[in-house]
Amino acid sequence: MFFALFQTNETRMSDNDKLIAAARTARENAHAPYSNFRVGAALRAKSGQIYTGCNVENSTYGLTVCAERVAIFKAISEGERGFDAIAVVTDTEQLTPPCGACRQIIWEFCGNVPVILGNLKGASETHQMAELFPQPFDSSFL
Ligand code: THU
Repeated sequence: MFFALFQTNETRMSDNDKLIAAARTARENAHAPYSNFRVGAALRAKSGQIYTGCNVENSTYGLTVCAERVAIFKAISEGERGFDAIAVVTDTEQLTPPCGACRQIIWEFCGNVPVILGNLKGASETHQMAELFPQPFDSSFL
């Protein structure tokens, strides 16, 4: 029993570490010449496939797309449905949570998943989406 629990925790930890590593690598592709704030995201589908994204800025500023939405739209456009977790990595002491627009999109496609925040120094923390995005508007209101 104890052994089984230990195994499960070990597995979950290494899955999260893998997701953080994927987000960290994706961050290197960020197109962020205006803010210089580079973000990487990685999304784990229930299929086990990992989809990554980075922020893609634009000279108009307003057309910028965050790393989280790039990762989610890549996955959705590839036909993937159902997700287990998302990781977000930045080079900041204070870990970076998803912006409001991204929270709405994460809720739409991922629901109450763990959101793993990490930085380049190896710090990380996990928050559930229900905590980050209380009282969401979603299809249940339509
Ligand atoms: N950004 C993300 O990609 N994800 C977040 O969670 C926060 C903000 C991007 C948008 C913009 O390119 C830069 O970070 C500064 O806001």
